[in-house]
Amino acid sequence: MVGFLSKAIVGATVRMPKWFVRWVSRRYVAGPKLSDAVQIMKRLSGEGTCFTIDVLGEEITSMDEAQYFYDEYVRVIEAIELGQFDANLSIKPTAFGLLIDREKGMENIRKLVKLASSNDMFVRLDMEDHRVTTDTIQVVKELHAEGLTNVGTVLQGRLFRSLADIGDLEQELGPAADYRICKGIYLEPEDISFAGYQDIVDATNSCIDRMLDAGAYVAIASHDYPVIDHAKSALESFGMGPGKEDPRPNAGENRRNKGPGYEFQMLLGVRGPLRRKLAAEGHRTRIYLPYGEKWYEYSIRRLKENPTIGTQVAKAFLMPWTNRP
Ligand code: FDA
Repeated sequence: MVGFLSKAIVGATVRMPKWFVRWVSRRYVAGPKLSDAVQIMKRLSGEGTCFTIDVLGEEITSMDEAQYFYDEYVRVIEAIELGQFDANLSIKPTAFGLLIDREKGMENIRKLVKLASSNDMFVRLDMEDHRVTTDTIQVVKELHAEGLTNVGTVLQGRLFRSLADIGDLEQELGPAADYRICKGIYLEPEDISFAGYQDIVDATNSCIDRMLDAGAYVAIASHDYPVIDHAKSALESFGMGPGKEDPRPNAGENRRNKGPGYEFQMLLGVRGPLRRKLAAEGHRTRIYLPYGEKWYEYSIRRLKENPTIGTQVAKAFLMPWTNRP
């Protein structure tokens, strides 16, 4: 149940002037330009972390807009190569047109994944809301079938279907399956997803266990101690962890800049000390780094979609010691 406070914060923030929303979001969004993301990579590379770059924007309304995202991600690949950054890409399938025209959307994604492959770079398909879950997974399967194995998707612990999806992807891709597992940011209908905190944590942890058991690559994307602590002990029970060789046989190709079978991922600006602690323990950590002209729409939409972020943002500002960048 979303608290009254969260709703109030969201209600107030979306009515605030744009400069105020920018002030709030600047901690979580690099800025409007690629050069802003490059600056952050330069600054944070020294912290022993790597990056996944997201060009802000989603759910385009005409296929022409997809060209903007394709062109921008081409520039991102060039910037990563030029700066020799330890980074890969995160893309939103609906920004490439998946919801408007599946075939054309698929073609746009294929083109980008091919280009990334020729630069030995991995592409993560972010998972959006339940309208595109099946299609997003299908895109990954089709690209792998075409030999493009430098692509993987995200599963959301809160969705009832996720364990079955892991089983399905295990059948199709074997150990080449490469996941990001997160709780899921979208508040989905209760007939398809868990709603309570503990249920979501338990379901997310079950997915982590299932993915590790299937021998897949697992990127644990959470700032929540019960998920991170669970992941650490699950990794240990699978003989994985800092300084240990990736124990998985035939783990697939295109492993550039990947961890030994797993990594931890966190959002820019959230729980930096925890990320640095994981890095100091020897775990591979990756920062999700969003930038783009659409920072305003992104910030407002995220707040409206899941108002619990309102309290997290307020907590980050009012009690900064709980969440330093
Ligand atoms: P939880 O929400 O309980 O957060 C734990 C603590 O972390 C909070 O108490 C707060 O202190 C801090 N915190 C978390 N989020 C914060 C925020 N935004 N601002 C300030 N503080 C915050 N979802 C999805 O549906 N599809 C996707 O593709 C992705 N991709 C993705 C990538 C990465 C790298 C991460 C870390 C997360 C995602 N997510 C996502 C979002 C994810 O599903 C989830 O909504 C958030 O990570 C919050 O869940 P936590 O597990 O961090 O726990």
